[in-house]
Amino acid sequence: MGRRAAITATDNGTVRAEDPIQVYQRMSALAAELGAINLAQGVPEPRYDDRWRAAIAAALPGSHFQYTQARGIPELRSAVAAHLGIIDADPVITSGCTESLLIALHVLRSRGCERALWLEPYYSYYPGLARLAGLEHGCVPVDFASGRPLLDLDRLRRALTERGSRSRTVLVLNSPHNPSGLTLEAGQWQRIRELVASTGSTVLIDDVYRDFRYGAAEPPYRDLLADGTTMIAGSLSKSLAATGLRLGWLLASPDVAAAAEAVHMHMSNCAPEFAQRAAITLLTGTTPAELAETTAAYRDKRDVLVPALAAAGFEVVVPDGGHFAMARDAAETDGRPDTTAAAHALAHAVGVVPLPLDTFFEPGSPSRSAWLRFSFAVRADAVAEATRRLAARPRRHA
Ligand SMILES: Cc1ncc(COP(=O)(O)O)c(C=O)c1O
Repeated sequence: MGRRAAITATDNGTVRAEDPIQVYQRMSALAAELGAINLAQGVPEPRYDDRWRAAIAAALPGSHFQYTQARGIPELRSAVAAHLGIIDADPVITSGCTESLLIALHVLRSRGCERALWLEPYYSYYPGLARLAGLEHGCVPVDFASGRPLLDLDRLRRALTERGSRSRTVLVLNSPHNPSGLTLEAGQWQRIRELVASTGSTVLIDDVYRDFRYGAAEPPYRDLLADGTTMIAGSLSKSLAATGLRLGWLLASPDVAAAAEAVHMHMSNCAPEFAQRAAITLLTGTTPAELAETTAAYRDKRDVLVPALAAAGFEVVVPDGGHFAMARDAAETDGRPDTTAAAHALAHAVGVVPLPLDTFFEPGSPSRSAWLRFSFAVRADAVAEATRRLAARPRRHA
């Protein structure tokens, strides 16, 4: 069967067949072909499936399968606001964080924003989303030298001001960060607030891993929103393990949220009605203690996978949040490493499939070398089996 090309947005807003986001499917197909453990894709373990089934079954008899308010069913908006701990917020309910990000970028573009800036490595959908919204993009590297992901805020300041003090730039911040696990601390959020205020930029927070912080305190979202220069894009995809239900939200100041609602009407108009109703049940029925239990289970899986990768000879970046650990074989970083070949070699040697991260870096980036991403979003037994297999990894250099 011929390889089907994925669709990528180009600089002039059109789309073309290309490859940067098809890597997930390719690596998952490899895992299926080899009967290997798939740590390439970020699909969360099914912790909430039974609840979703029950909530959807309960929602169906009262459903009429019609449009809801474009802003979303009011009870869901309130439930999301309560989930975020910002009860006076009125989010726009969207079809997932991806749509929220695209809406936000469109609104910002229409308000004179010219460029999106994000951290490198970056979620490989970002360039396409920025291009669809007609924005240029650039990035600031995360530093891995210490074995933990670190953000140099002075470097970020320089990137924000390189076009003058009124930068017309949106800073897209994903914390916890895919793929590095960088998780901003309260002091860093404070400095970012100051940076944004002093440079006249805007922040778009990609909050999709919000419930997977393994130490850092809750970010000061209320303060950031009050500044009027912040938008928060989130979803239930990861927090309640429902990537296929397409339920997300966007929070912003009232006038920006109104503009976002108008853009959303031109995209999906509304998330499916029965899914919104089921989400009200899940959000109001899941206690903070249960969410904390999920977070702890993910932290435990991280604490199993990271030492196993190190013991198998990988240089590992220890994530402070999120679903992924970045690792590479130091022996493969010389010259021009073929990251895809390294991922395939591991898959064939031990039956564990990571994601090659080439497409998460700029083509000429000096930090690009040989990084692989290992997901610990899979079930604990799959993580345990992956660690057993990694222990059998043949080493190129003793
Ligand atoms: C950083 C980041 N943002 C957004 C998304 C997409 O979220 P959603 O499924 O809610 O569209 C993902 C999914 O993996 C992600 O890793």
